[in-house]
Amino acid sequence: MKIDYRPWLIVFLVIVSILFLYTAYDKQTKTLKLENLIKVLSFQDITYSLRELNKVAALAALGLLALVFIVGPLSKFWPVVFAKYLAYRKTVGVISFVIILLHTAYSLFIYYKLDPGSIFAQATLLPVIFGFIAFFIFLIMTITSTKSAVQKLGYKKWKTIQTCGYIGLLLVILHFFYIESKPTAGFDVRPYGLVIFYFAIAALLLRLGIIFVKTPERKLYEEHFGENEEGRKNSKKISGKK
Ligand code: HEM
Repeated sequence: MKIDYRPWLIVFLVIVSILFLYTAYDKQTKTLKLENLIKVLSFQDITYSLRELNKVAALAALGLLALVFIVGPLSKFWPVVFAKYLAYRKTVGVISFVIILLHTAYSLFIYYKLDPGSIFAQATLLPVIFGFIAFFIFLIMTITSTKSAVQKLGYKKWKTIQTCGYIGLLLVILHFFYIESKPTAGFDVRPYGLVIFYFAIAALLLRLGIIFVKTPERKLYEEHFGENEEGRKNSKKISGKK
């Protein structure tokens, strides 16, 4: 079986962009400083490095999820450019869930030290609950992302589960906003973090946008992921590509 390296390349580029544009950003001078990135990657201070890498993981997961969600609507608006990327959604989606697992595990075991008092502290209770619900939505989506799951559930039920992903994305956006909002500084995130935040909102709005655009629905698993020749052909037809 041939492995397609292109979805992995997308994941790699997203993570590298976050390391160079987010981790390297210096809040005091408002410039990019390579020393900041080296400090994190050298693990001189393990606690600091892990905390920064947890932020990289969280942002990478959100950025990749937004990419997965935005391809559907974009392929309906501009099929010639975007329909070919539908086939990458499954791999990128599963990788982003693995990254979410790492973020959740770090947050629970190291950030909150498994202390229920800290996890469910009044100040962060709501964003943590949003995070957990989103986590379970993406867990179910990942488990049911196989062809055999579609056969067991039936396409309609399966499609409903996949559509719940948009609720998951909304919850992650709220999780990000509330967990990074400080009483004095407000929503305090480095500029590249803001780019990813607004990109995720754009993905959600575009999805809502296609509700108003009348296009035939995808009715097969293969059309959904652009898998096999027939699925790709139908997917292009549905998207309006000649
Ligand atoms: C779908 C699941 C989730 C996604 C995609 C996600 C994503 C994010 C994002 C984008 C941030 C902001 C990173 C930044 O500072 O720039 C964040 C922060 C955070 N998240 Fe999540 N999250 C998820 C679930 C959870 C869960 C279940 C927990 C559970 C405890 C959690 C705990 C945290 C904590 C503690 C922070 C603050 C980290 C810090 O400031 O160092 N997240 N998350």
